[in-house]
Amino acid sequence: ARTQVGIIGAGPAGLLLSYLLHSEGIDAVVIEARSREYVERRVRAGVCEHPTVELLREIGVGARLDAEGLPHHGFSLRFDREDHRIALSELTEKTITVYGQQEIVKDLIAAHEAKGYPVEFEVSDVELHGIEDRPRVTYRDADGVSRVLDCDVIAGCDGFHGVSRPSMPGLKAVDREYPFAWLGVLARTPPSHEELIYTYHERGFALHSMRSPEITRLYLQVPVDEKIEEWSDDRIWSELSARLETAGGFSLSEGPILDKGITPMRSFVAEPMQYGRLFLAGDSAHIVPPTGAKGMNLAVADVRVLSRALVDLLQHGRSELAESYSDTCLRRVWRAEHFSWYMTSMLHIDPDGGDFQRRLQLSQLRYTASSRAAATSLAENYVGLPFG
Ligand code: FAD
Ligand code: DHB
Repeated sequence: ARTQVGIIGAGPAGLLLSYLLHSEGIDAVVIEARSREYVERRVRAGVCEHPTVELLREIGVGARLDAEGLPHHGFSLRFDREDHRIALSELTEKTITVYGQQEIVKDLIAAHEAKGYPVEFEVSDVELHGIEDRPRVTYRDADGVSRVLDCDVIAGCDGFHGVSRPSMPGLKAVDREYPFAWLGVLARTPPSHEELIYTYHERGFALHSMRSPEITRLYLQVPVDEKIEEWSDDRIWSELSARLETAGGFSLSEGPILDKGITPMRSFVAEPMQYGRLFLAGDSAHIVPPTGAKGMNLAVADVRVLSRALVDLLQHGRSELAESYSDTCLRRVWRAEHFSWYMTSMLHIDPDGGDFQRRLQLSQLRYTASSRAAATSLAENYVGLPFG
């Protein structure tokens, strides 16, 4: 078969890129290793930046997000057993929207289905060929039949463990691992506070978030090689209560745990993000630790830039935007890398850090909570800088 853009991976990056390209009259095929049920159920990010929400709305896939997403005007930094609110909308005139990543994925798959844009699930043995001049993707379809997809361009949107990045010659990676991980839980219980709470506590970081008025999302800092079996539901709730405690008395509402998992934390950037006719977007090119809620939003920003570049390249024969794709994206990527590293460093207990580091963290938290300038800087990064 033949298409203009072969897209590997049906995460937020691949699906959104496909949708943007089709809307501009460019032909694309998405191939995905997992089943539709699997990608629609995978619990991951929950915070949509202002520019992400605007884009989804603008292209006509924002109806359910507008109906069910929860707009947030601020969040709390909790330390010294007290809340210190960062008033996002007052400081930036913008908000963020809490709406699960898998809901965006569902909406995009439904939009593909409605328009007849092709997405193939459960493919295997995906390989990339001829990325210098004659790109081709070979794979097995869901029935195990060998397929060949000839294309003008390949978009590697297959996440951190995909095949696209390893297919790029001469790629350099800048990398950092953190000495802790996140245990994430999804619980059937109403949120205990109307806003997100990022908590700095001597027992470790904790985050209170949500998905809906009935569903709470919570995270705990845990040791880097922690096993999920070590964490019974009871232990999770008691650790969350200990870390989220306040002087005024905070009561955490408990309920059945629907999903739990451990995510390692790393910073990773592949440079450059393009080689020949292969373009990387989203987690296949870069990873941030989740503390700034930037991962999915960066994937969205990449494909916004990439779709424009590919329209210019494939419809008008102009290659300038394609050639500057990597540089354009990396500027935003590195801003998010810094912000995510900064939020992570300020809020987690480093097992190898000492009193000096803890005093610096507390000082930075107090400054952020008391200085309008410091709070504004945090807020403008958090709500998302405008797409370039
Ligand atoms: P992905 O969503 O990873 O999509 C890539 C897709 O490619 C997947 O569907 C995968 O199955 C598919 N694929 C992989 N290999 C192949 C192959 N060989 N052939 C075909 N398809 C393939 N961010 C936050 O902001 N907050 C969070 O709480 C948070 N939690 C996370 C938890 C986990 C376990 C992970 C992995 C990430 C988390 N993130 C979080 C980050 C955020 O979810 C990602 O940044 C976002 O998913 C990036 O989207 P993407 O489309 O680039 O990649
Ligand atoms: C969520 C995840 C994050 O990484 C974050 O910083 C805030 C909220 C969430 O899943 O709700």
